Amino acid sequence: IPSFESTYMFKEIMYQPKVVSRIYDLYSQPVQIRKMDLLCSKISKCRRILFLSCGTSYFATLAILSSFEHVLELNGLNCDVYSINASTRVDDIPRIRSSDVCIMVTQSGETADVLKIAKKAVAQGATVAAITNSLFSSATRIAGQMQTFYINAGVEVAVASTKAFSGQILTMMLLLSYLRGGIAEYQNTLSILPDFSVLLTNTLINSADIMQMYAAKISRHPSCLVVGRGKLSSVAYEGALKMKEVSYIHAEGIASGDLKHGTLALVHDDMPVIYLATPLPSKETCGTGSDSLHIGLSQITSRVENRDNILVIATEEFAKKMSSDMNVIIIPSIQSILKEQTKLSYFIEKTDCLQLLMNVVPLQLLSLFSACTRGWNVDKPRNLAKSVTVL
Ligand code: M6R
Repeated sequence: IPSFESTYMFKEIMYQPKVVSRIYDLYSQPVQIRKMDLLCSKISKCRRILFLSCGTSYFATLAILSSFEHVLELNGLNCDVYSINASTRVDDIPRIRSSDVCIMVTQSGETADVLKIAKKAVAQGATVAAITNSLFSSATRIAGQMQTFYINAGVEVAVASTKAFSGQILTMMLLLSYLRGGIAEYQNTLSILPDFSVLLTNTLINSADIMQMYAAKISRHPSCLVVGRGKLSSVAYEGALKMKEVSYIHAEGIASGDLKHGTLALVHDDMPVIYLATPLPSKETCGTGSDSLHIGLSQITSRVENRDNILVIATEEFAKKMSSDMNVIIIPSIQSILKEQTKLSYFIEKTDCLQLLMNVVPLQLLSLFSACTRGWNVDKPRNLAKSVTVL
């Protein structure tokens, strides 16, 4: 594959284990813990949490949304949580009240759609916080330093966002941990990060060859599907966005349960399908247990004769029960590894977050390799800007 190693996108994908360490260092500091404490006390009194974001940042919020719901329920809080795709509501701004906590999630801190809704939230007297990669951005000015949570991912140059996605999920996961169990749970979650960083490095190294092979296959096709069940659908959406953005292959990210409502008609021998099959610990509530993942996969495999266009991203345990005529990439099961190391005080939502993060890495590599195979400049995709500062 031509010269992918010199691209910013490749370097930024490979930097993600370092982002985990940088988050660990930053969020071990007392001032950050104090900020977590202040925001969580506001959340405990609010009626709604509204995440405001676009694109990849929006998918990061979708990845964690139901975990927030679960924690609010466990903690007995009378509060709901929603994720607003700011670009779809900017002309039709949702109702915001002073009892809401709005959290902008924006790598650049300059996305106009997000800022417009956040300004309305300020005017309504709501609490407005920011999770961002830019400490001197408009988002920070709106939220104030004490309500800004830095993702510390380092400057992201490539237009396609990769390492910021990881930083956003990890920062939201820490907020969630604090909300769930105060400083004890927060510190427990922090303590997992060094091991997670090593796992992420191994996944990056181990997935590179298979992703290059599959990229050679997929780059001959005009279109593909990325399918995930339950919470895994957020990763499918993100994987499809990356594919469109840099390889110009039309990709549709879809929740597996949604296929039967129309998109299943696109499944045929010549349609590459990437299927996410890493059971999540919170399986009971989100349909992402091993059995339902097998059912979802057979929905696809039963419609094709040539399974060579299918790629399954699976844990080892799941792969053992699959037929051998599909491409498979094995990624670690966070739950089993961290449990073996006895570091995991049982809080399934954080395990889910880490698993989702692990799943996204092969998809980032796949889009990079597909784009380079097709000869595109991955760092500057056509028609796109790094920060979208216009409405
Ligand atoms: O800077 P932001 O996180 O607010 O940007 C939001 C989107 O424009 C951004 O994530 C975009 O979707 C990326 N180019 C996707 O890779």
